[in-house]
Amino acid sequence: MMKLNSTVYLYELLWVLPSLALPVGMFAVLLVTTFGAEIHLPGVEGRVDPNRVDSTAPFDQPGVVQLGPGQYEVHMVSQVWSFDPAEIRLPVGAEVTFVVTSSDVVHGLFIPYTHTNVMLLPGQTSRVTARFDQPGHFRFFCHEYCGLGHHTMSGEIVVEAQ
Ligand code: CUA
Repeated sequence: MMKLNSTVYLYELLWVLPSLALPVGMFAVLLVTTFGAEIHLPGVEGRVDPNRVDSTAPFDQPGVVQLGPGQYEVHMVSQVWSFDPAEIRLPVGAEVTFVVTSSDVVHGLFIPYTHTNVMLLPGQTSRVTARFDQPGHFRFFCHEYCGLGHHTMSGEIVVEAQ
């Protein structure tokens, strides 16, 4: 009688312990990635009236702005089905923060070979930083389906050797 009880107790323990360890482990991973590796969901970086993008700084003057040595900011507006600016010229080694919004529907900004992959929501500002250490031509794309011309919505970053 005693033997049966302890076997049942052991099986119960074999289920209970992993079901405790799993959520505790997952929570630990969440804490490490959030506070240790700073991986997080994009938050609201700023608001902008989608009807007044053209007259709201910094989107009233789309283009590249130099902030300091090797430091740049790109102010960009997305709309069906283009980016403004569509061509961005930077010197090699540039660290660039893209400040982007949409003036109509949901678009996306994806720059292959960088960590740049953000949604562009009307009414919100997206902000993402990338570094360009190799000279060359880098195409960027809209990665959110935004209508008939979605597949044509792209641009180019030209990184020039100094
Ligand atoms: Cu814009 Cu797809």
